[in-house]
Amino acid sequence: MNRRNFLLASAGTLSAMDLFSAIDKNFALQLEKQLNKLENMSLNSSAENEDFWGWIRESYTTSPNLINLNNAGVCPQPKIVQDAHLRNYQLCNEGPSYYMWRILDQGREALRAKLADLAGVLPEEIAINRNSTEGLNSIIFGLNLKEGDEVVLSKFDYPNMKNAWLQREKRDKIKLVWIDIPQPTEDDATIVKLYENAITSRTKIVHITHLINWTGNIVPSKAIADMAHKKGCEVIVDGAQSFAHFDFKIEDTGADYFATSLHKWLCAPFGSGLMYIKKEKIKNVWALLSSSEPDSGDIKKFESLGTRSFAAEMAIGTAIDFHNIIGGKRKEARLRYLKDSWATRAAKLPKAILSTSLKPQYSCGIANIGFEGWQAQQIEGRLFDKHKIHTVSIIHEKVNGIRITPNVYTNQQEIETLVKGLSEISKMDGPPAK
Ligand SMILES: Cc1ncc(COP(=O)(O)O)c(C=O)c1O
Repeated sequence: MNRRNFLLASAGTLSAMDLFSAIDKNFALQLEKQLNKLENMSLNSSAENEDFWGWIRESYTTSPNLINLNNAGVCPQPKIVQDAHLRNYQLCNEGPSYYMWRILDQGREALRAKLADLAGVLPEEIAINRNSTEGLNSIIFGLNLKEGDEVVLSKFDYPNMKNAWLQREKRDKIKLVWIDIPQPTEDDATIVKLYENAITSRTKIVHITHLINWTGNIVPSKAIADMAHKKGCEVIVDGAQSFAHFDFKIEDTGADYFATSLHKWLCAPFGSGLMYIKKEKIKNVWALLSSSEPDSGDIKKFESLGTRSFAAEMAIGTAIDFHNIIGGKRKEARLRYLKDSWATRAAKLPKAILSTSLKPQYSCGIANIGFEGWQAQQIEGRLFDKHKIHTVSIIHEKVNGIRITPNVYTNQQEIETLVKGLSEISKMDGPPAK
């Protein structure tokens, strides 16, 4: 295949297997063999199949010096995605304005269609951008809201979005109504009620974080959205942590507006994102950055982002292929299995405080654990110093623990090291004196 055709294909015009074969023949052959072994296997059995997941691990470039359990921060890309990105990047450097704007950019519509398929929406409802912050800020700043209009949001929403709303409150005199969701809350009706109680006749928007990044708890977005729609509100869903993590379509969230980062669970190149707006609502949202028709009904008005990395953008297609070949449901089952594997044991340790539900509908791969008498940073420091386990401290509202997030390349041995590290902490009288 010549290079130009290869680049167009990588955005979505060839089957995943053909494309992988064009990038790396041996990889494609091995992949086919591995997938054949999983045929007819139940989701639960395939989640535990260390042979398959060991092979998936080999398709990443994991560090031998670190156990990376902070995938909720940002995920690495499989090698095949890195290769696609690098090939695009090197081509761009042979003649940037020609290869970026005339060649690579031709892959944009095929990529949009592929993303739309993954998200279960129309291509005309998808804008390709750089991250969740950009997508959600475009929506928050683009909506026509006036003084006195109310927005319901949660203290557990993400800071960049809370700050965007706070700026609108300051600038436009809208009113923010904050709710608190105890972590974990394992009852849809209770969570829906928390949002419902905050809605008044002036509420225009309900902002929902689908999977709470601080604790890993999943919020029943659809049930909240259905209630909010009945009361005449529109719904924004922050899908940064949920998209391509557990298996769902945007429709299942009830969102009118949705955004996610593709460099998180889809494992696409850093700085890639997706924004969705329901077709009939696009014209109501002003473009955040310059556009010749800022109030048009064309989603592309949100793509006037100036010069950016087309090389990264056009490698998103390879990440979608890799994700689809593993299979969304299979990936979800493996991530939940890994989380359960450590969290069910760790929850029973003396002094452990788990802020995450272990019920399947309320969490998947992410969980947060603390220990009485320990600050989160002390736990994070101890795990890193003794076991080179990289996690992140979370101190937020009533949560004081570390967030632990495996990924599809995490193996059982790493999980055992984590459990050992946590059980050592639980047996100590407290954090060591400095
Ligand atoms: C829930 C949530 N929303 C939004 C973001 C922002 O993502 P990005 O930095 O890719 O814009 C994050 C990042 O961790 C997140 O967890």
